[in-house]
Amino acid sequence: MNTSMKIAGALLAGLIPLAAWAQGGGDAAEIRHGRYLVRTSGCNDCHTPGYMQKDGQVPEAEWLTGDSMGWHGPWGTTYPANLRQLVQQMDEKAWLVRVRQPMRPPMPAPSLRAMSDADLKAIYRYVRSLGPKGQAVPAYVPPGGPVATPYLDLTPKNLPTQVAQ
Ligand code: HEC
Repeated sequence: MNTSMKIAGALLAGLIPLAAWAQGGGDAAEIRHGRYLVRTSGCNDCHTPGYMQKDGQVPEAEWLTGDSMGWHGPWGTTYPANLRQLVQQMDEKAWLVRVRQPMRPPMPAPSLRAMSDADLKAIYRYVRSLGPKGQAVPAYVPPGGPVATPYLDLTPKNLPTQVAQ
């Protein structure tokens, strides 16, 4: 092998991993951004069991696995979905549609809807990168229906009309 071939070989050996790294690096940056958005937008507060109670000290492996603790109010009783399972059931396009559809309280649906496509895709990629985990959460219970799980009661109390009585 002559010198120029050796140099060409060395360059190629160096360049190919570099190209692979650039490709993977782009995805990794997007996943990192998705992780940042999840952490700063409060998704874990509701979608990760115990996250609020433990001041965020929940291993990342458990994040976004959904919570069977209900949120009860005039809208009925809702359960923060298992997002780790949800993202497995849909591609990125379906995710963009789903996250912009109506959702019941206390899901901050208007905030999610206001996110850019790029941010929503980053969240999708991050959640998918965590892999599937956990079970489906209990089904939504309409107002007045029987609630079989523990729940937090967000029923408005002591409203002005009640005070006047
Ligand atoms: C205050 C609690 C709360 C926070 C914070 C929250 N969610 Fe939710 N989320 C819920 C509840 C409750 C539901 C179920 C709503 C329903 O039954 O309509 C839900 C539903 C969803 C759904 C629809 C699930 C499905 O089955 O179609 C998605 C997607 C979702 N949340 C994503 C997020 C993301 C991403 C964040 C952070 C940006 C977030 N949520 C923050 C409580 C919350």
